[in-house]
Amino acid sequence: KRPAGAPDASLAKPINKVGVVGAGLMASQLALLFVTQLRVPVVITDMDQARVDKGLGFIHAELDKSVAKGRLKADAASQLKGLVSGSVSKDVYADADFIIEAVFEELSVKKQVFAEVEAVARPDAILATNTSSLSVTAMAEDLKNPERLVGFHFFNPVAVMPLVEVVRAPASTDEVIATAFALAKNLRKTAVLVKDATGFVVNRVLLRLMGEVSNAFDDGTDAAVADHALDPMGLPMTPFTLAGVVGLPVAQHVTESLHATFGDRFRISTNQQQLIDNGVKALWAPDGNGGLHVPQETLDLLT
Ligand code: 3HC
Repeated sequence: KRPAGAPDASLAKPINKVGVVGAGLMASQLALLFVTQLRVPVVITDMDQARVDKGLGFIHAELDKSVAKGRLKADAASQLKGLVSGSVSKDVYADADFIIEAVFEELSVKKQVFAEVEAVARPDAILATNTSSLSVTAMAEDLKNPERLVGFHFFNPVAVMPLVEVVRAPASTDEVIATAFALAKNLRKTAVLVKDATGFVVNRVLLRLMGEVSNAFDDGTDAAVADHALDPMGLPMTPFTLAGVVGLPVAQHVTESLHATFGDRFRISTNQQQLIDNGVKALWAPDGNGGLHVPQETLDLLT
């Protein structure tokens, strides 16, 4: 059955090489997913070799883990490692069919990335953004070929979260949207077409959830009580644990975008701001017994 809003699947173009822009947490998870599911060459780039090496190191380590768990044969893992490469130069995107960016969540940075990518990419290569909350329409504005841009938004942890939000910009062609849906299917994800509105669907709900639990903490409710209050509702993870998975700096940027559009429905709580100001990246940390806890030094920052 054709997913709601998806164009005819026969319009989809084949993807024989993938470019991922960035080598950070999200980008390296994406590169890992693309190579393991599509088994095509995947190339990542970042600003310096150290970041590229860190991304490649993550991908290799995850493939090794799959071998150790008996999910992947050792020779298959080496083949996959051989398909992934990294560079500091965007020239490597010259022969890619699909190039997705997962760089810093700021419009000017994303626009700069796409200008550099367009300078080297084939005119028919599809460009995608993994933005969580920025306007895909605004990202398309300065492109030479805006019709080839699509929002393709994944969730953390990428390997297990089944959903991808596909965002259509006004100029996106049916061919591009059909390719995004076909690609999601080949990645074994479920794609849904969402409007190009700040935070799309999922982040609006999740950021509100995390924000309100954080506000309850601001109001004086014990952190663990606020965080576990929703357990009976069957959440797969407590809101603070989720904030740790997403990362406080990412959560901050998404909240700022949502605040700019929707006002006080979304705001950074006082305690979150205090933690960000102190360089804390995740609220909860492993407690050594397979669980998570708020470290005392983090609590000490919350006066
Ligand atoms: N990488 C790879 N695999 C992982 C993983 C990771 N980081 N974390 C868990 N897994 C795998 C485990 O290996 C396990 O696989 P198996 O059953 O085949 O052995 C499976 O996932 C289940 O893991 P666990 O049994 O350890 O733990 P849970 O049952 O608690 O499931 C979870 C883990 C799937 C992550 C679940 O807790 C969950 O769904 N959490 C919610 C995550 C969420 O909401 N993410 C969205 C964040 S918002 C976002 O990313 C948007 C961005 O724009 C900000």
